[in-house]
Amino acid sequence: MAVANGIDDKVLQDILSATTSRDVERLLATLPVVEPEHYQRDYGKALGCWRDEYLHWVPVGLDRGNGGRIKLAGQPMNPIAERLVNGQEALIELERLRELADSPETPMPRSPREAVLRYFGVPNLDSIPRISDAARRRKLIEKINEVRKRLYVRLFYSKEAKEFAVAIRDEGMGQEPLRVHETLLSLGQTDKADKPYMIGVFGQGGSSAFAASEYSTIISRRAPDLIGRGGDNGVGWTIVRQIFPKGRRDPYFAYLAASEDGAVPRFDAAAAEAVGFTHGCRFVHIDYDFGRSSAAVARMLYQALNHVLFNPMLPYDLFALKERPELMQGTAQRLARQAAGLGHRSALDKSFSSQPVGGTA
Ligand SMILES: Nc1ncnc2c1ncn2[C@@H]1O[C@H](COP(=O)(O)OP(=O)(O)OP(=O)(O)O)[C@@H](O)[C@H]1O
Ligand SMILES: [Mg+2]
Repeated sequence: MAVANGIDDKVLQDILSATTSRDVERLLATLPVVEPEHYQRDYGKALGCWRDEYLHWVPVGLDRGNGGRIKLAGQPMNPIAERLVNGQEALIELERLRELADSPETPMPRSPREAVLRYFGVPNLDSIPRISDAARRRKLIEKINEVRKRLYVRLFYSKEAKEFAVAIRDEGMGQEPLRVHETLLSLGQTDKADKPYMIGVFGQGGSSAFAASEYSTIISRRAPDLIGRGGDNGVGWTIVRQIFPKGRRDPYFAYLAASEDGAVPRFDAAAAEAVGFTHGCRFVHIDYDFGRSSAAVARMLYQALNHVLFNPMLPYDLFALKERPELMQGTAQRLARQAAGLGHRSALDKSFSSQPVGGTA
């Protein structure tokens, strides 16, 4: 059972505004947390006693041996791209679940591109600059300007702490508090493998961001229209950190759980409404390790994300230490735009057709 642990609703605002390690440590000091010295899950057993009404550090994926798997990310941009892909999938899945609620017989889209066209009316982003009909192009750009607002990545930098934080926020389907640990915090589990319109398949990608961060905060709320009778309209939350057990060489990643089965703490719907959190997910990766200095990161992020997500399914916004977002549509779209501008003189104009998905032909 997810429990409230008597934590004041106002804490939700502190969770939302935490962007440095110090913010998180201050917040943790106000919470009823049992430290790892007093309670830990070791391989297959608990060291110490669970205390009701307290929060405890529990291994991500309920797997004490998660250290190696979570550290597989490679380049610092990859985990952010994984989060963005998850966000795009959550936006698509929200529309698919709504479609199923309206007409349960509707066949599923056969690819992510087909899903995006069906639910958002947007074709491959790199095909838009090539459309010769100016009125149609304008219409699509209007659509993109509406859709982009549902997913963003925001960079924070604290001069005082010399720390970066990266927030990824989507207004997708979200997860009910009781399911957060089985989805957002699971390892090696996915609910996408039988859906040809999804991309994720390993149940692994999202968690790579924990390895690049000192702390991560997670907040999630299911879209209200997807919640069945007896469902939970509240918001689930947690904090993730690495734990280095005394006298051991095998660190692991842990999150704050509110009950022994691993469920995360929650706030009621009223608390979510008070801070304007309607639905979807928000991840903040704090003291994020970009491996370089501040000015370079803000400049690099636009190029690097457009490169990694070369032709993304959906557009998104990037706030790179600015209040004005930049529209992100991938380098394929930028090349196509340049090629369209150059007209016949261009040798660059190469479009990218859909890739087949295994077993769906
Ligand atoms: N933004 C999100 N909104 C709702 N659910 C999410 C979101 N991100 C992740 N999830 C859930 O968490 C699970 C784990 O995500 P993760 O990225 O680790 O794996 P995946 O996307 O299934 O596969 P892959 O490892 O290939 O990315 C997903 O299967 C999905 O159920
Ligand atoms: Mg994924």
